[in-house]
Amino acid sequence: MPLVGPKNPSPWLSHLEVRRLDAALLFRASPRVPARFLLELSLPSCLQFASSAHQEAGRSLTGDEQKAKILQMDKMNQADRPGGEELQHLKRVSRVKHVILENYLPPWAKILGSRNSQLAYVDCFAGPGQYEMDGKPVKGSPVIAVEAAIKLVRSRHVESLLLHLVDNEPRQVERLETHLKDLQPYPPNLTVTVTCADSRSFVPKLLQDLHPQVPAFFFIDPYGHPLPLPVINRILRRERTEALINLMWFRINMDLSNPAMQSHLDELFGDDDWHNQPFMQMHRDKRERAFLAYFISRLGAAHALQFRIRHDAEDIQGGHRTKYYLLHLSNHVRAALLMKDIMWHLGDEKGTFDYSGKFQGVLISETLTEQELRDILLRKFKGKEVSFDELREQTWELPSIPKDYRAVLRPMEGKEITILRITSKKTGIGGADRIRFK
Ligand SMILES: C[S@@+](CC[C@H](N)C(=O)[O-])C[C@H]1O[C@@H](n2cnc3c(N)ncnc32)[C@H](O)[C@@H]1O
Repeated sequence: MPLVGPKNPSPWLSHLEVRRLDAALLFRASPRVPARFLLELSLPSCLQFASSAHQEAGRSLTGDEQKAKILQMDKMNQADRPGGEELQHLKRVSRVKHVILENYLPPWAKILGSRNSQLAYVDCFAGPGQYEMDGKPVKGSPVIAVEAAIKLVRSRHVESLLLHLVDNEPRQVERLETHLKDLQPYPPNLTVTVTCADSRSFVPKLLQDLHPQVPAFFFIDPYGHPLPLPVINRILRRERTEALINLMWFRINMDLSNPAMQSHLDELFGDDDWHNQPFMQMHRDKRERAFLAYFISRLGAAHALQFRIRHDAEDIQGGHRTKYYLLHLSNHVRAALLMKDIMWHLGDEKGTFDYSGKFQGVLISETLTEQELRDILLRKFKGKEVSFDELREQTWELPSIPKDYRAVLRPMEGKEITILRITSKKTGIGGADRIRFK
């Protein structure tokens, strides 16, 4: 959290961060209050102090008065929270994984629930279920999943849902159970199991017990290393099962060069093959890209979507380097397309998030221009006929969503392509419509 930052905040600082900075500068102007005091403050107290200090401008408080005021505000803020306990702060960039879950779980469950009587969702690193962001409580991943599950089961989109929420910290489990109370009783065909356990041993056991035909979604969201690759590959070998992994690049990168962490990395990879990989001699972006390619190559997923999350403005490291990747791993192209549609929209937000994909060996930057997409389609499908859906499936790695394809195909109609409409009526393009490339 860069509390004392540049005098003129850069344009990427949000309104909230400017206010936080504002509070920090107020403190700085008052040397009688140690800077660490501000670090210990909850965000609401920090903001309240900033505004009240503004109001009291003209009469300067003594250091002790200021400290007393801060403590009083912090106490008041904590008293407003359930159990009087302060919620963990959620950084802005971490919210994106929750938005992805909120948007992905309902269509995932509706599609698979139409053909399967039971589905499973496993949150391997569940956390407390609620956080504080911008001074307000926000839901964590397990609460998001339970809320979605209740709606899906009640609306009969899914006959039966199993939710496993796992955390190895008893305190986190207790917090989660408290936050889930408001959502109970659950509908009869929804089973929510909260377990205090180490996921490294819990998940292999669960994989033995879970019926192999039950489609499942595993969310693997640790602070540091994810589950060992052999365990992730066991997950991916299941039918109709996918995983969303938070790959903390900045932590793993530090660990790669730390001899004390070698055994942990051996455990992560399941062997020591990583020691001799070229990325070990590389630096910065090259190292990051080579590591990621190696990591993905070790996974048994036909489709791996990457969503890059940069450091938050609150992080000491600053807002440009990669903090972590969200990796969506699946063995069904429809799952990859669905996730791509969701990630694409988030990737556009204020340029904070990245989305990139590789296609035919060409590294495509964040987005494709219409001309680039047109050229790729013409090259790949020359002389062929495919449906609109097949065209998207065969180019799933492109960072483009249906509206991009339509924008490119429409002006090509009658020139480079002909369209036989099956799904669409007059001028639309979609679904089973046949596209013939000259
Ligand atoms: C990043 S937080 C989880 C955040 C949560 N997924 C969310 O989005 O709301 C990571 C959690 O994993 C838990 N944890 C750490 N190591 C674990 C392990 N080996 N097994 C299970 N939980 C673990 C921690 O106690 C912490 O609550």
